[in-house]
Formats: sequence, C-alpha cells, structure tokens
Amino acid sequence: MKGFIILYFVIWSVKCSDDIPPSFTDFDGPYVVQVTSPVDHAEEPHWDGRKNILYYVDIHAGGVLAYHFYTKKVSKITLNGEASPVVPARNNPNVLLVGLNRSVVVVEWDGKKQLGDQEILSTISQQFPKSRFNDGKADKQGRLWWGTIGPEANGHVTPNEGVLYKFTRENLQNPEVVRAPVTNSNGLAWNKANNKMYYIDTPTLKVVEFDYDDRMGTISKENRTVFDMRDYKGRLTGLPDGMTIDDEDNLYIALYGGGAILKVNPTTKKLLKVIPIPARDVTSAMFGGPNLDILFVTTSRVSLSANERLFYPAAGSLFAVKNLKAKGLPAFTADVADGVTKRLNLLENLFTPEIFYPTPKESKTVTRNTEIPLWQTLMNTLRAFF
Ligand SMILES: *[C@@H]1O[C@H](CO)[C@@H](O)[C@H](O)[C@H]1NC(C)=O
Ligand SMILES: *[C@@H]1O[C@H](CO)[C@@H](O)[C@H](O)[C@H]1NC(C)=O
Repeated sequence: MKGFIILYFVIWSVKCSDDIPPSFTDFDGPYVVQVTSPVDHAEEPHWDGRKNILYYVDIHAGGVLAYHFYTKKVSKITLNGEASPVVPARNNPNVLLVGLNRSVVVVEWDGKKQLGDQEILSTISQQFPKSRFNDGKADKQGRLWWGTIGPEANGHVTPNEGVLYKFTRENLQNPEVVRAPVTNSNGLAWNKANNKMYYIDTPTLKVVEFDYDDRMGTISKENRTVFDMRDYKGRLTGLPDGMTIDDEDNLYIALYGGGAILKVNPTTKKLLKVIPIPARDVTSAMFGGPNLDILFVTTSRVSLSANERLFYPAAGSLFAVKNLKAKGLPAFTADVADGVTKRLNLLENLFTPEIFYPTPKESKTVTRNTEIPLWQTLMNTLRAFF
C-alpha cells in the first residue's frame, strides 16, 4: 500500500512538473479532416460564400459536386464528358460555368435538386481535338482564365497541346490565347494587390509569376520563377498541380504524387510549410468556410493501383485543413454569362443530369467527419516518399 502511495505521488509530481513544455501536451497545429467520401478524380475546388457551398468536379466522370458546408451533404450532377473547371456566375448564384471537354457550358443548378437548362457557350482548340479544359478561374473582373491539357495516356500528357485562354463577355466565341503552347495548364492565383498572377504548367515543375494588369486583363511577357521542384530534389516528390493564395500572399501548391500541400512565399521564394494530406495525388486547394480559414483540398485515386488504394483509402476525397492560422482571399465569380439564353432543347442528348442527394442513411457514412490523427497523416506521407 505504501508503495502504491509513493508511486502515485511520483506520477502525480511528474504530471504537475513545470519542465514539460506546453507544446508537448497541447498540440495546436493544423489538422486534416476528410469531409466527403472519395470520387475518382476530385479537382477545382471553388468556395461560394453566397451559398456556403464548396464546388468541385470529378473530372473523368463528368461530375460537378456541391459540398454543403453546414449540412455536410454532397449533391452531384453528371455531365456527358470530362468536367473541369467549375466557376459560379456573378449575377446568379444558381448558374455555373463549367468546362465540358473543350467547351464552356452554362448550367443552371441550385446546388441541390433543381437542375435547369444547359447551353454550350463556346468550343475551343479545334486543332487539338483530344485536349480538354483543365484548371481555370475567374479574375476580379469576372473574365475566365481557363487552360487546357493535351491527351493523357498512362499518366503521360502529350506535350504542347494545351492553351491558356481568356474569355470575356465579348469574346466568348473567339477567346484570347494568353499562352500557347503549354502542356498541362494549372494553378492560377492572383495576389491581394491584384497586380501579380501565378501560374503552373505542371511538367515545367515550376510556379511562375507574371505582372498583372487587372484593368486590361493582361499579363507581362516575362515571368519570374518563384518555386521550382528541382530545388527540392530528394526532399519532395510529385508535380505541382492546382494552387491557391492566402491574404498574406502565400501560395498553397498541391503536389500530385507528393501527398502534400506546400506553402510558399513567392516573394522570398521560401518553402514555409509542408502540409501532409492522406492521399498521394493531391490535385488542388482553396480556402473556404464562413471565415475563409479552412483550406479545402481535393485529391485523386485514379492513378492508384489496387494495393495503393489500400494504403490511401481516403484518396479521391475532399479534405479540410483546419487550424492553419491563415485566411484565404475570396474566389472570384464568373461574369461572362448570366444564364441560359437559348432555351432550346438542343442539348437533350449531351447531358445526363443525375441528381445525387444522399439519403439520410447514405449521408451518415458519406459525411461523417473522420478525424485523421496527425501521426497517421505523417506515416502516410513518409510511405509516399519511401
Ligand atoms: C465529350 O467527349 C466524350 C469522349 O470523346 C464524348 O463521348 C462526349 O460526347 C463529349 N461530350 C460533349 C458534350 O461533346
Ligand atoms: C516563362 O519564361 C521562360 C523564359 O523566358 C519561358 O521559357 C516560359 O515559357 C515562360 N512561361 C510561361 C508560362 O509563359
């Protein structure tokens, strides 16, 4: 009995010891939450604060998905083709601009059950019939900066069949070619002062910065490399994919094949943080949530073997990184069309609208947040590297 009392006292005194630094007991770093069930290739997250929806796409399945922040439910429509990107319209939150193969289409959808009309606004890159739209965003004026990617086979993209386009209300039929040729157009972001634009052509392994003139909607001829994966050989793996920016002008770069988001200061070119994500192929990121302080991250499982899928059971899901202690800039909406104008039934066979609204039973499993412990996240990332 005496021994027990002494032992108890020893434990008690250790527990009360002031020598243990608070950081050992109170972990206050970022943590990753899986917020949806997986799809094959999630990409293009876009937070719409008007509806508290995080839109994203499931590219090869033609899926356009809406993650409802407050109900934690996901709704989906399926289009006939490859869908990417998705940008909501400025003048009507129930209208989305979606890339479908090589076309810009307008889709009337309330993000839930009400699917309206659809219309093809423009089809581009006739010279590259097998290319398709890839990453794309709207600038502050609502112009669309949408790029394309050449045909993909066995993880290899045919080089120089991509183009970065800029669409305005006036040039929809004949959009401006901003950069060509490129191979895999990705990663657009504008800084807070709106005088710099960041861009990634994935196989170059670089993030580049252009001077940006918002009034004219133009970028400088010259560019400056702000991040190059080659400088981290042996320390980081993967390819730079989608990207976003915070209100202190730090970039968050998704590493496809690298299981992480990189936080980079483009002015100092410093790598500030590696945020491990429990999926190997991380495709893009965007800040959202009512305070724009949650980093939503999209991932893919499309290139994973059956064995790799066992390692990454959550690959293809939408993740939320919380407690990053950073805030994003609001995503710009599209100002090139306000809705469908030709309400003709021309597209009857082009789309296969399929509203997926989880039944209560499904929504439980689909949407219950799975808190992934940091150690597991780190282990997965280590596994990805070795
Ligand atoms: C998109 O491309 C696929 C594959 O070539 C094709 O089956 C589909 O009809 C196309 N969709 C549209 C809207 O043209
Ligand atoms: C950036 O500049 C380099 C050097 O002039 C050029 O080779 C490259 O194509 C440019 N990148 C883009 C995306 O314009």
